[in-house]
Amino acid sequence: MGILHAVQVDLGPRSYPVYVGHGLLGDLGELFGRHVTGRKVAVVSDENVAELYMEEVVSSLVEAGYEPVPVVVPPGESSKSLQLADIIYGRLIRARLDRGSTVTSLGGGMVGDLAGFVAATFMRGISFVQIPTSFLAFVDASVGGKVAVNHRLGKNLIGAFHQPRFVAIDVSVLATLPGRELRAGLVEAVKHGVIRDEGLFGFLEENLEELASGRTSPELWAELVAWNVRIKADVVSRDEREESGLRMILNYGHTLGHALEAVTGYSRFLHGEAVALGMVAAGAIAERKGLLPPEERARQDGLLSKFSLPGLEEVSDDEVLERIRSDKKVREGRVRFVLARHIGKVEVRDVREDEVKVGLEAVREFLG
Ligand SMILES: NC(=O)c1ccc[n+]([C@@H]2O[C@H](COP(=O)([O-])OP(=O)(O)OC[C@H]3O[C@@H](n4cnc5c(N)ncnc54)[C@H](O)[C@@H]3O)[C@@H](O)[C@H]2O)c1
Ligand SMILES: [Zn+2]
Repeated sequence: MGILHAVQVDLGPRSYPVYVGHGLLGDLGELFGRHVTGRKVAVVSDENVAELYMEEVVSSLVEAGYEPVPVVVPPGESSKSLQLADIIYGRLIRARLDRGSTVTSLGGGMVGDLAGFVAATFMRGISFVQIPTSFLAFVDASVGGKVAVNHRLGKNLIGAFHQPRFVAIDVSVLATLPGRELRAGLVEAVKHGVIRDEGLFGFLEENLEELASGRTSPELWAELVAWNVRIKADVVSRDEREESGLRMILNYGHTLGHALEAVTGYSRFLHGEAVALGMVAAGAIAERKGLLPPEERARQDGLLSKFSLPGLEEVSDDEVLERIRSDKKVREGRVRFVLARHIGKVEVRDVREDEVKVGLEAVREFLG
């Protein structure tokens, strides 16, 4: 079997393994055999990913004695909706899935969140398996149990915590992932380095060009993915439901990142690209507050400058500030920001609006 790493997510009775390997899609039947008893397995995917990988997944499950039910939705964030969830419920009911059945995601974070939401709610919750296929979903979306659909008034507003039985990451699917998606996903790995692991940050400094070019061995990919999964799993296992505040550090770069995505209508930036600029802003704010030494900020921005990122043309500071003000994390005119002390260590601080402006100014300067 092609497993290279198995990372355990420790959540008491909800603990589960994340298998990282090469060629795992062909071994899925065997992995299901370890964790899943019910025979019926809905496999939810989007058209792009289904076209490439559905057949292999379905035949591996059939060989192991399961009855897969493929469900394919259109690609893109707009499929992460209650309307699509409703269509999927209909498919599951007609295919006679029951409380002992399983829903599996096969796709990026969009499919993972949508399929997970269906698994969390169908018949009050049935078992869930994640087979992520984008780099962002490998290192972020597939671990931690947050599942959701979007509402027209905001992203991820309707959701649940629903941990999978296991996660299977096959790095060979990166061969077909568009390069821009790959690079945007790598930003979340940079984020993990800044918030928690200087060693990972150094690894990315050494290897980013090779990783971004896609000419990387499966072993190196698997090592990088497992490293990131361990970081996310560690944070999630200490704060599963975002109660102690620790899980919030995963939002590093996201306060401004989300605002930039929103004011550009979710069309200019991929999520990771906006987060990269959010990290640049957070670095400037942290330096202004005397938290982050200038040389550490320069080190962060040096790595981020290797990503080619869209610009802020026609984005006004006022729109961005307004967007941040309407964000749920604002309290009495102050925004909660995750700010770095040095590479590998962050803390949560209140930030004033004039400081956010300093951050935006720094982003414009960074973009040149
Ligand atoms: N639940 C969480 O904790 C969490 C964390 C971060 C992000 N998210 C969610 O994840 C979503 C973004 O995920 P994403 O960036 O993976 O986007 P995505 O799922 O939309 O995938 C991006 C594009 O890549 C394609 N694709 C995916 N894997 C492929 C492959 N191997 N080969 C070819 N094409 C492939 C998809 O079809 C899609 O067109 C958002 O909805 C976000 O809210 C969730
Ligand atoms: Zn993110």
